[in-house]
Amino acid sequence: MSTPTPLAGYTSYKGLPQLAGLCTVEEAARPGLGVEECVRRLKRFHYCFKRLHQILTARITSEPIYELKTAFAHHAYLCAEHVAALRSRIGEMREPPLGLEDVPHPALEAFFDEILAAPTTEELVAGVYLDAVGALEVAIQTYMTDTNPLTDAPSRRALRFAQIELDEMNRYGRAVIASLGTTSKCCEWSDSILQPLLDLAGGIDGVASTQASGGRESPGDTQSPTTGGLTSPARQDMPRRYSAKPYVYDPVPKRDERFTDPWNQGVNAESFLYNPAFPARPKALMMLYKRLREIDVPEMMASIITQTPGKPWGYYRDMSRQLWDEARHAMMGEVGFVALGVDWTKAKITFNWSHRLNTECSPMERHGVLFFIEQGLMPKTGKRYEFETGQATGLPLIATIQDFDWADEVLHSQIGRLWYVPQFGSLKEALEYGDAAWSKILSNWTTVKEQGLTKHENWWPAVYEMACKAEGVPPDPAVLAFDETYEGKRADLQRIAAE
Ligand SMILES: [Fe+2]
Ligand SMILES: [Fe+2]
Repeated sequence: MSTPTPLAGYTSYKGLPQLAGLCTVEEAARPGLGVEECVRRLKRFHYCFKRLHQILTARITSEPIYELKTAFAHHAYLCAEHVAALRSRIGEMREPPLGLEDVPHPALEAFFDEILAAPTTEELVAGVYLDAVGALEVAIQTYMTDTNPLTDAPSRRALRFAQIELDEMNRYGRAVIASLGTTSKCCEWSDSILQPLLDLAGGIDGVASTQASGGRESPGDTQSPTTGGLTSPARQDMPRRYSAKPYVYDPVPKRDERFTDPWNQGVNAESFLYNPAFPARPKALMMLYKRLREIDVPEMMASIITQTPGKPWGYYRDMSRQLWDEARHAMMGEVGFVALGVDWTKAKITFNWSHRLNTECSPMERHGVLFFIEQGLMPKTGKRYEFETGQATGLPLIATIQDFDWADEVLHSQIGRLWYVPQFGSLKEALEYGDAAWSKILSNWTTVKEQGLTKHENWWPAVYEMACKAEGVPPDPAVLAFDETYEGKRADLQRIAAE
């Protein structure tokens, strides 16, 4: 029988919870990890979140499946927040210089490079959510167990949030794989490339390699599985398949098969929305169309983020937040259409805007156009008007959607003022630059028609009739007859209130 330790007999005053509710004295009396080891592991988690953010963002534009575009936007934002939290925590741990931009291990770098370059949606999803997120969850759980819950409470707090969201991401990925069906190629790639890379890195946290090297790790050091000795494998010695050639970002937006007629500019939503002669109720449909069409904003913002290196992390976090908001705006449109009994695929959700900006403008010009448009949303005719119209429809859901859409746009305007405007001498110059960039892109209404890409079909009557049928009312003949396209409209004016 073992002798009872002093810890076992210790009680707090009147049996109150010990140690501010963190843990028991007995749990806190286990030494746990030192600051140096905590920092070493936290830097690896930070690197993983940074790479996950990069991968998810870079793949939004070229991912055809709408549901995945919006999920990548969501999860990229979550990762950006965890990067920010970890940067802040590491900065509290006696660590300058932080070295947060260093690659902790070449095999970890190759592991994420491989996933970034995954050639199919199935492999990308499996690589991100099963291999990477799954392994990161395990490493963080190990950290939570290994570190002292009292001495390292701030790290544990930050990681607890990360665990919740990683678990959601992992479950999301599993559900996607169950729906799409995973190919045997994913498993083979994981077994022969991804998992061996993780092994070379000593796992996500590098614990395997530090144990072999007496607790010290310097970038590049690992326990070689072939020699059993400590080696410094060079970056070029990493097993690679899809990342054997450097990844090239694809800025061309792609859509799934529900997005028929993506060049269609046949229904001028703003013209209908701002016409006082039309009643509010059908205007709800035009606003929902405008919301769903916003899926082009994540497609475009992802290209700015991906092609603008070297900014402070706050830039990437804020831009990713805005990107995620725009994806939410698109989903609000989807929800509204479904709630009103409308098959949204009958409204032609164009990618004309993101396609042209991504292929004809520089990242800086795209940001300029975005900022210029968002400034135009603030005056009385912009988001306030949409909210008031939403209220006037008598449909509480539409009012809620427009209420939050407006609030989000105010935030986006502030993000623009924080990260875009200071690159210019004044707000005026910043706006002029965006205006000029947008003017570079003249209307392509005729061009795309002549090229046979679209007939600019008027989809409005079908969508409006569907909504009337669901509501059980006859269509208003004047509303039904609306037939105004974007032909001959200045591209900037048509978009100023369009987002
Ligand atoms: Fe928006
Ligand atoms: Fe916005």
